[in-house]
Amino acid sequence: MKFRDQKRLLSWILAADFALAAGLFSVGYSELLCGRKQKPGTAEIAEASALEEMPEPKVVSLTFDDGPNKEYTALLLDGLKERGVKASFFLLGKSLEGEEELVRRMASEGHLIGVHGMDHKDLTKMDATEALKEVETARELIFEITGKMPQYMRPPYGKWSGELSEGVSMEPVFWDVDSIDWKLQNISRIVSKVLKDTEDGDIILMHDEFSTSVEAAFEIIDNLQARGYTFVTVDELSID
Ligand code: NI
Repeated sequence: MKFRDQKRLLSWILAADFALAAGLFSVGYSELLCGRKQKPGTAEIAEASALEEMPEPKVVSLTFDDGPNKEYTALLLDGLKERGVKASFFLLGKSLEGEEELVRRMASEGHLIGVHGMDHKDLTKMDATEALKEVETARELIFEITGKMPQYMRPPYGKWSGELSEGVSMEPVFWDVDSIDWKLQNISRIVSKVLKDTEDGDIILMHDEFSTSVEAAFEIIDNLQARGYTFVTVDELSID
């Protein structure tokens, strides 16, 4: 094909495209004017412009310490599943025996499982070797149950030191919002404390060992989801 012919073909294609686009536009436009039912094309355009107006997505991370709990963890998992929420659990090694199924369920439902030590001891008050053992034993026990080695830990009482950072190969995870649920043990007080303090990107500390904590967590989720928050596990947040 000669160059001139190619040029002619190209201009013909462009003209045809233009005519098609104009035709589609006028169909959409006239439907809007007449108030007729919109065709998918117009609906898609409307949806795209609605997306542009949506605010930036906000994320938050719910964390539960001191479990697994025989009485309340399963209830919590049911509610999280119902709401499509993934949370992070920092487990105590001493509570694992007999709760293996519960821990496997946690993992299979997409929650992050981290370490909270064997026996909830303040790691900064132990010698380094002992502290390391406290953490690594719990880590190994979780690995035996889930087949997955935990990469995150929450130091009991949030107590941490430079020496521990050097010895422990897991990432310590602290929190931005303390629900003080263990102290309040009152659903509405826990909910209002957390909602007052929570901002985009925050980590919320709770404990799945009280019915009030579980109920409060559901209310917190429903409220924050309605305000556009998405719940992610701590590994999905950028931790500084
Ligand atoms: Ni704790």
